[in-house]
Amino acid sequence: MCGIVGILASRPVADILVDGLRRLEYRGYDSAGIATLVNGTIQTRRAVGKLNALAEKLAHEPLVGTVGIGHTRWATHGRPSVDNAHPHFSTQVAVVHNGIVENYHSLRVELEDKGHVFKSETDTESIAHLITDYLQQGLTPQAATAAALKRLEGAFALAIIFTGHEDLLIGARRGSPLAVGYGENEMYLGSDALALAPLTNRISYLEEGDWVELTPGKAVVHDEDGHIVERKIHQTNLSGAVIGKGEYRHFMLKEIFEQPVVIGDTMNALITAENKLSMPPMPFDWKEIPRLSIVACGTACYAGMVAKYWFEQLAGLPVDVDVASEFRYRESPMVKGGAMVVISQSGETADTLAALNYAKKHGQKILSVVNVQHSTIARQSDCVVPTLCGPEISVASTKAFTTQLTVLLCMALHAGVARSHISEAKASEILQALREIPAKINEVLREDHKIQELSQNLADAKDVLYLGRGLLFPLALEGALKLKEISYIHAEGYPAGELKHGPIALIDESMPVVVLAPHDALFEKTASNIQEVVARGGKVVMFTDKVGLANMPTKPFWVSVLPETHPVVMPILYSVPVQLLAYYTALAKGTDVDQPRNLAKSVTVE
Ligand code: M6R
Repeated sequence: MCGIVGILASRPVADILVDGLRRLEYRGYDSAGIATLVNGTIQTRRAVGKLNALAEKLAHEPLVGTVGIGHTRWATHGRPSVDNAHPHFSTQVAVVHNGIVENYHSLRVELEDKGHVFKSETDTESIAHLITDYLQQGLTPQAATAAALKRLEGAFALAIIFTGHEDLLIGARRGSPLAVGYGENEMYLGSDALALAPLTNRISYLEEGDWVELTPGKAVVHDEDGHIVERKIHQTNLSGAVIGKGEYRHFMLKEIFEQPVVIGDTMNALITAENKLSMPPMPFDWKEIPRLSIVACGTACYAGMVAKYWFEQLAGLPVDVDVASEFRYRESPMVKGGAMVVISQSGETADTLAALNYAKKHGQKILSVVNVQHSTIARQSDCVVPTLCGPEISVASTKAFTTQLTVLLCMALHAGVARSHISEAKASEILQALREIPAKINEVLREDHKIQELSQNLADAKDVLYLGRGLLFPLALEGALKLKEISYIHAEGYPAGELKHGPIALIDESMPVVVLAPHDALFEKTASNIQEVVARGGKVVMFTDKVGLANMPTKPFWVSVLPETHPVVMPILYSVPVQLLAYYTALAKGTDVDQPRNLAKSVTVE
């Protein structure tokens, strides 16, 4: 949430700041702004709405200056407006901030009593005035920042510039990520390495409580106790090229269509040509693990729910799956010798990170499934099994989900063989089915126009119910989440068996019911649920296979027939039609598919 950049150079920085923000816009798009020093004085340009509004403003009112900071906002305190847009500033300091200052109100009262005049409703402005207050007491910018940081409660990543100091840029991190980029006599700050990719591939990451003083060609990092510390410089392999939509209308559609390739890439890193697993060394022995905890948020959590079925069925390993925001405060007792699987596309989700830290503190080994290399979750894990899906730009997660499922299935098979719960031959049979998934997804994608036709039946609905059983139940949740996120239609996912325990009261002709019903061991039961819906005038959209359709006593109103596949890998295949259904429904409604209202890609505040 919120993206920040900072650049210290000897050339004008305004355009480079905007370019960095373009790469961070997925983090928030309520408003954007930059500040530079012009003849030593703070100058800002800020605009409400997406980054293009800021770019347009800068075209009419350019900003010079060789040191500057930029921000793209996801509003927490104060509605989106120019006054609430970052940077926030006094006559001496300008600040951009990602996070939440929890004690901002008491700071504001204290600073207003001292005569500081606030112009916004934000928590961030208190940081600018607090640092200013210390400067007015005669402290240097470095000392004033260090003193102010000690007074802040909550989470932050900050980039700060100071009137009269054209060769100084300060960054700080607690709870929210901040990367430091090393250029040729230029220094950078960014919420992630991707923002800085066109500028440098040499990146270090601030640790919790660090602040950094950047001067031309130099970074001095201080830890929270004030000691000067070294932070490793990583060589990233991120491309500086702008990530485009290619021939696709939206990033989401492009990312849906990339799935056969990225699932292939992800599995090829984990499976040999002979269909044997080649997993990275685990930080524990699967045989010794008494219980596995899985935590994640949103779509990643639904991947975890699918994994629960896999670990329990294929490895005989008991699993608890938790939404990270609940787990982190629940004081859950952790078993001795246990392990936690943490799933996150961004690797920066605040609640997931907090859950990881809780588990670590309670002696759990951490195995993570992460897409962004060197992200905080990746760095804090004992072992990372990466999803190789490349940057996911659309706020609605698609290819990250199916590559997470790919990794998690490989992990569950690995555990199953290690625990002698399944034979190597059984694991190979499932891996073979996994190998065939990209081709089967291509079959679904070739017929996406049929799903587009089905979506016309959802576009006018106010509510949609998604049903599935077993491995397909988490997919019902995921389908409902996708639809809510991008089409703004209320949707709920339910285990089909729960229908009679309440939701059946909702059924009428106006509420489509999407049922995921491949011909698996539970098919007959789901087919009965479909009859129950139809008998009450409900309109069913059924996703099944040829055998499933042939075994339906009465054909539902709308059906989409998918390729047949091994039951274990079905959730990966069935992800694609639910993604397409949500996409085409949103398209029919004309919503902003890639940047839906109120959302941000990376949720770095709790
Ligand atoms: O980056 P993460 O995987 O940790 O993000 C978790 C959720 O915020 C994310 O999956 C969210 O639910 C997506 N917008 C769903 O499409």
